[in-house]
Amino acid sequence: MKKCVFAGTFDPVTKGHEEIIAKCSSLFDEVIVAICVNVNKTTMFSVEKRLDFLRATCAKYPNVKVLFHEGLLVDLLKSEGAIYNVRGLRNGRDYEYENEMNFVNSELMPEIVTIYIPCSDPNVQISSSVVRELLKFGKNADRYVPAEIKGKLSDEIKGKLSDETKGKLSADIKS
Ligand code: COA
Repeated sequence: MKKCVFAGTFDPVTKGHEEIIAKCSSLFDEVIVAICVNVNKTTMFSVEKRLDFLRATCAKYPNVKVLFHEGLLVDLLKSEGAIYNVRGLRNGRDYEYENEMNFVNSELMPEIVTIYIPCSDPNVQISSSVVRELLKFGKNADRYVPAEIKGKLSDEIKGKLSDETKGKLSADIKS
C-alpha cells in the first residue's frame, strides 16, 4: 500500500494546498495530511481550528486522514510506516527552501522519498499569508480557500483581530 504524508502549517488551508491534497489522493492509497510545527512561524488560527478547516476540506477524499503532529516530520513518517513526503512547489524560492528541508530530512531518515508537485497557474500566487493579511484588514479571502471553509475564516477572527490590527497600526504610526 502506497502511503504519503503532506505536511504544513495550514494557517489556514488554501486552494493551493487543496490542489496538492487532491493529487495525492489520486496518486496514493492513503494520504496523511499533517499539521506540523514550523518553528519560524507564529500562527493566526489555533491547531483545533486549523484541524477543523482541514477536516472539512478533506472530507470528500475517503483515503485522506488529517492529524496534528508536534514532532519532527521524519518521526511522523516512521510512525505511519510511510516513506513518501509530498511537497507543493509554487516557484524557485519554494524549491530552494524545500531542497534544504529535504537535505536535513534525508540525513535523519535516509529512506525518505520527497516528491514535489508543482502548483497550477491559478494557485501560484496564493499563500496562507495573503489570506491572513486580507483577514487582518477585514477583507474577504474566500476566493483563495476551499469551498468547504468559505465564510468561516472571518467569523473566527472577528473582534479578536480588529483590536490586534488597530494596535499594530497605531504602533506603526508612532514609530
Ligand atoms: N503547496 C504548499 N504550500 C503552498 C502551496 C502549495 N501548492 N501553495 C501555496 N503554499 C504556501 C502556503 O500557503 C504557505 O504560505 P505562508 O508561508 O504564506 O504561510 C507556504 O506556501 C508553505 O507553507 P506550508 O505548506 O504551510 O508549509 P510550511 O513551510 O509552513 O511547513 C513544515 C513546513 C511544517 C512541513 C516543516 O516546518 C516541518 O516539517 N516541521 C516539523 C519539524 C521538522 O521536521 N523540521 C524539519 C527538520 S529540522
